[in-house]
Amino acid sequence: MKRAKIDALLASDMPLDQVCIKGWVRTKRDSKTFSFLEINDGSCLANIQVIANEDLENYDDVVKATTGSSLSIRGKMIESPGKGQKYEIQASHIKIYNVAPDNYPLQKKRHSDEFLRTIAHLRPRTNKFGAAFRIRSEIAWAIHQFYHEKGFRYLNTPLITGSDCEGAGEMFRVTALDPALVQKLGKMDFEQDFFGQEANLTVSGQLSAEMFALALGDVYTFGPTFRAENSNTSRHVAEFWMLEPEMAFCDLEDNMDHGEELVKYLVNHVRNNCEQDLNLFSKFVDKSLPGLLDTLVNTTFERVTYSKAIEILKASKKHFEYEVSYGLDLQSEHERFLAEEYFKKPVFLTDYPKTIKPFYMRMNDDNETVAAVDLLVPRIGELIGGSQREERLEVLEGRMDEMDLPKEDYWWYLESRRYGSVPHAGFGMGFERFIMLVTGITNIRDVIPFPRTPGSIEF
Ligand code: 4AD
Ligand code: MG
Repeated sequence: MKRAKIDALLASDMPLDQVCIKGWVRTKRDSKTFSFLEINDGSCLANIQVIANEDLENYDDVVKATTGSSLSIRGKMIESPGKGQKYEIQASHIKIYNVAPDNYPLQKKRHSDEFLRTIAHLRPRTNKFGAAFRIRSEIAWAIHQFYHEKGFRYLNTPLITGSDCEGAGEMFRVTALDPALVQKLGKMDFEQDFFGQEANLTVSGQLSAEMFALALGDVYTFGPTFRAENSNTSRHVAEFWMLEPEMAFCDLEDNMDHGEELVKYLVNHVRNNCEQDLNLFSKFVDKSLPGLLDTLVNTTFERVTYSKAIEILKASKKHFEYEVSYGLDLQSEHERFLAEEYFKKPVFLTDYPKTIKPFYMRMNDDNETVAAVDLLVPRIGELIGGSQREERLEVLEGRMDEMDLPKEDYWWYLESRRYGSVPHAGFGMGFERFIMLVTGITNIRDVIPFPRTPGSIEF
């Protein structure tokens, strides 16, 4: 039986004469003739208290099962006379799987996030990280539910790719070339490599998703993406999960409507399904979290152009570390100022200069800006990045020439504009950033099981 089910069973007046729970000891207190064990089985935040009496046949061993030990307990659920819990288990049998020694690193006390990162293999056993990873799982599930309800098709795009979607060149190379051969030849001869050409880990499934949107209508991908950006920030990791919806017969406005609906749906889902875990974050991590979640669900997101945002930033007279100027990319401090301080809610920025955006974004009539959209949210900055796609073959080819992109490598992408091209749009939402948003966790390394960052691939 899982701890998470017990409250509901008790509420339905089920007799719980024989329950069995398997989990790990959080704490143990011994008195003369019995011990109290706080057991957590990972299914939810709450522990269950177990009373082990000295008449248990292996009581001497049970007494040795301190924090971190793994047990299976059978017994009867009784109303608890003590305070702190309504029910407890009067154990009739306890099986001990493993007794954790005294040097178990997670003794009952507060540990810093930095320390817990050094024991990422054990940190999901803490209240905070257990809650974060249960919420992560719940959001992943809600994403699929949202798209299934809307009739989108789920697509798996390749992780190994020959093309650079974002054109930023921040890719991890995939090769099977023998280093000895490379040394002998004095170069990487990709023709002799596994695929006969250069291959990389994908930075985005978008280009593939577009092909499927132009066949199935509405699709989404949800999977790992990889970026070799050497940026050691609290919002970047080298391997992260991205959700990418792509919708045919859809423009930039539809794209924003969709993004707003998605964010509201997911926040509602977490509020309705992760109450206990969410409370932990509101109480101990970020007291302003309930207010922010309210804002996300109940206010209409702002929509302004990039150039308007530049004006706002300039007029703010606020001191920024990085320069604000039309044509420069916004830094996270600018994005946060707009969402957190100026609008005090999520804001979609649209119509960025073409010079700071990738080749596939749809050219606006001014020939200077493209139909790009980023969603900026309080505390995080950019949560979503997307655009309406350039569906006009000649315009797309023109952009690729301007940007010096090898058109022959993208021949299949260009063919989609030759045969049955339609307006379409989509975006990417950083999954980890969304988890940060709804938990108040401020470092992306703490919302992904085993973070990959420059210089660090432990675990
Ligand atoms: O804005 P990005 O680069 O957009 C794309 O890759 C598009 N091809 C997506 C599309 O239109 N289908 O990335 C999308 C989102 C960002 O807004 C951010 O939330 C997240 O992915 N992201 C990262 N998250 C964690 N670590 C990183 N290094 C990230 N880079 C981007
Ligand atoms: Mg972006």
